[in-house]
Amino acid sequence: MNFEFYLPVEILFGVGVVDKVGQVGKRFGYRVLVVTGRKSTKENGALDRVIQSLKTNGAEEVLVFDRIEPNPTDKSVNSASEIVVREKVDYIVGLGGGSSLDSAKAVGLVSSNEGCAWDYVNYPEGPRLVPFLNRPVICIPTTAGTGSEVNRYSVLSNPIRKEKMVISHSLNYPKVALIDPSLTLSMDGKLTAITGVDALMHALESLTNRLSNPLAEDLAVRAIALIKKWLPVAVEEPQNLEARTYMSYAAMLAGIAIDRKRVALIHGMEHPVSAHYPQVAHAEGLAALAVAVTEFNYRGNPEKYALFAELMGYPPEPHMAVRALEDFLCKVGMRLSLKELGVEREKLERLAEDVYMLARGLFPINPVEPTLEDIHRLYEKAYEGY
Ligand SMILES: [Fe+2]
Repeated sequence: MNFEFYLPVEILFGVGVVDKVGQVGKRFGYRVLVVTGRKSTKENGALDRVIQSLKTNGAEEVLVFDRIEPNPTDKSVNSASEIVVREKVDYIVGLGGGSSLDSAKAVGLVSSNEGCAWDYVNYPEGPRLVPFLNRPVICIPTTAGTGSEVNRYSVLSNPIRKEKMVISHSLNYPKVALIDPSLTLSMDGKLTAITGVDALMHALESLTNRLSNPLAEDLAVRAIALIKKWLPVAVEEPQNLEARTYMSYAAMLAGIAIDRKRVALIHGMEHPVSAHYPQVAHAEGLAALAVAVTEFNYRGNPEKYALFAELMGYPPEPHMAVRALEDFLCKVGMRLSLKELGVEREKLERLAEDVYMLARGLFPINPVEPTLEDIHRLYEKAYEGY
């Protein structure tokens, strides 16, 4: 057995850990920028708790950047980075869903180097600039899905180029993740399902792609079993803290799994969808693509797809992975088509070309290496919801 593992993120997990942010943050300095979205962290009280904890633990200046949108943009990261430089901010707190955490991590990196956010995203030929410094970032998730709190990825959209790309660099890890499952209690059933499906896709894709890492695969296996058991409960009973706790834990495990083993074609094909249609939530796009792509993929790694089927409660046969996934998406109200999400049929060709241009780095690690024609055909299927 061979594997490598590196995860320079301190993790504090448990109900109430959000109130430790001030105590943790004072190691990093006195001037802090909280990066968050426009609404939910204000409405559910999380932002107030964070500010309170920072102030009572000696922070001299607590600034708030509350303009992070779903499918966050490079522009927001650039604006927040300018504040960090101008106000001599020592460290950054990301509070919210994946958008806020991804942005906070990117702000830590962009504010400490030259250039703009888009200089650091990974085109197939690599980023334009390589960062050499970062500012400390503390990530506090309020959803259970992205796993961004424990990995090196920031997914950003560039609305002018209509591209969604990833910053992936060892300086893009947060220093600390404060994972407090009670912060996820305020999500409604729909958002719970959307974010939970993202975690499931991370676990499925990292388990089944062609890279090998037994430790990451074990994390993915555990995440799948937990999501199968607890996501339907959390969707039905948003106040069930046990379900919320296991979902926060599963999302974290899956977030670590993709840090090591990456994702695959479902994510590769989703990014152009939400780049062209920013109103589509990341995991809605994933859900719309997942069944068609899994049907295409399962022959490429029969053993792992059989394991997935078994973990989802189906006979351990590779083709059962498709049924298992389809039934589970139905169960949590996420069996969607691209058509229902507002994607236009005449755009499918462009989406396929974007995958080829921007995400072909994933092709060799996908269970079955796709051609441009395969991708176009898969978009057609996902459009109709087959
Ligand atoms: Fe994802």
